[in-house]
Amino acid sequence: MNILVIGSGGREHAISWKIKQSKLLNKLFIAPGNAGTDSLGINIDIKVDDFKAIKSLVLKENISMVFVGPEDPLVKGIHDYFIADKDLKHIGVIGPVKAAAELEGSKEFAKKFMVENNIPTAQYQSFTKETINDAFDFLDTLNAPYVLKADGLAAGKGVIIENDISIAKSKLKEMLNGQFGAASQKVVIEEFLEGIELSVFVLTDGESYVILPEAKDYKRIGEGDSGPNTGGMGAISPIPFADLAFMHKVEEQVIKPTIQGLKNRKIDYKGFIFFGLMNNNGIPSVIEYNVRMGDPEAEVVIPRIKSDLVELFKAVAENKLAETTIEIDERTVSTVMLVSRGYPMAYEKAKEITGLDKITDTIVFHAGTKIVKNKIYTNGGRVIAVSAYGENMNEALKKSYAKINAIDFEGKKYRHDIGFDL
Ligand code: AMP
Ligand code: GLY
Repeated sequence: MNILVIGSGGREHAISWKIKQSKLLNKLFIAPGNAGTDSLGINIDIKVDDFKAIKSLVLKENISMVFVGPEDPLVKGIHDYFIADKDLKHIGVIGPVKAAAELEGSKEFAKKFMVENNIPTAQYQSFTKETINDAFDFLDTLNAPYVLKADGLAAGKGVIIENDISIAKSKLKEMLNGQFGAASQKVVIEEFLEGIELSVFVLTDGESYVILPEAKDYKRIGEGDSGPNTGGMGAISPIPFADLAFMHKVEEQVIKPTIQGLKNRKIDYKGFIFFGLMNNNGIPSVIEYNVRMGDPEAEVVIPRIKSDLVELFKAVAENKLAETTIEIDERTVSTVMLVSRGYPMAYEKAKEITGLDKITDTIVFHAGTKIVKNKIYTNGGRVIAVSAYGENMNEALKKSYAKINAIDFEGKKYRHDIGFDL
């Protein structure tokens, strides 16, 4: 079959790399893709939320399955658009409908959903400009640090964690006054959770689910988890603190009630669910939902899936996931992200990348790259993820780091300490 992947990051390169290995694939299209996906299929320069252009492409190229990578088109309702269109409704879309994408699109919706389904999470309240004084009172009842979250999508920047109560109050005021535009007209304030973070993923057809390998993402820009948050600077899978007993609790207390909660709301969820979790001495609680795979988590999770991903996607589209199983590679995969100078603030672009041809023994996933006249240039904050397999974490990381030296571009930066805490 012909398949379209929507998106342009490391996650979409990893998914495309895996789809390319499927015996069910005929032609692969990526919209808009990057210099990495260019060598796996045909990149089509369409914006991820230009549904009309996506429709034309799907019909013209006889595409029968669409995988949606990023949250933006999901929250804008790309799956609903397909269902509502008589020419598109038979096409398998991997990615949830708008009503379910609200789990990521609105923090308040996600919190209500968790409370409704008895899913462990930090206690919270939400506020608007009109109720700012109640918000100040609520902050006074909490202990530091204070967690403030813009309700809507804010490109990963909408969470503020502040130790000082008066600074927290003035930051809350800024948020409600439009710091993140419409996204922060409502702010969720919640209790701070102690523990160590991890990401757990399932693929579901709305009825049944398969659990994918878990991963740890390194979000801060600086060594030792310091400095501002990024999209993610590296990742590892599996992780030692997600043992069987912990994962059993996650399945019983988080995954099952989430799937059941969606069913109760009559939401037919098709795609990945990403649970951002805190492990506090073996007790899980949910920090957030995402309605997609993580990035850079995909760059370590996808290489550990031995099963044919297109067969799994087909089972999702046809409501047959209960009849399938997923086979996982026991080895560890690590990834280290190369980023542009300046990231996660304003960053440099259009720097030539050299040394990519010298890479063996690792998988180079492109994130922000583009190809111009056979040369590859940086085109984003996160540029390239270098993933490697190992019998253990140290062996995998050693390979990732060894290859990083061979790849070069002006202003190349990366964290030297991925895995330091494990
Ligand atoms: P989010 O955008 O919801 O992923 O939040 C960004 C980051 O803030 C998370 O990855 C956590 O590291 C941190 N965070 C969010 N909520 C909490 C919380 N309630 N307690 C502790 N850390 C949190
Ligand atoms: N790596 C975190 C995310 O994809 O949101």
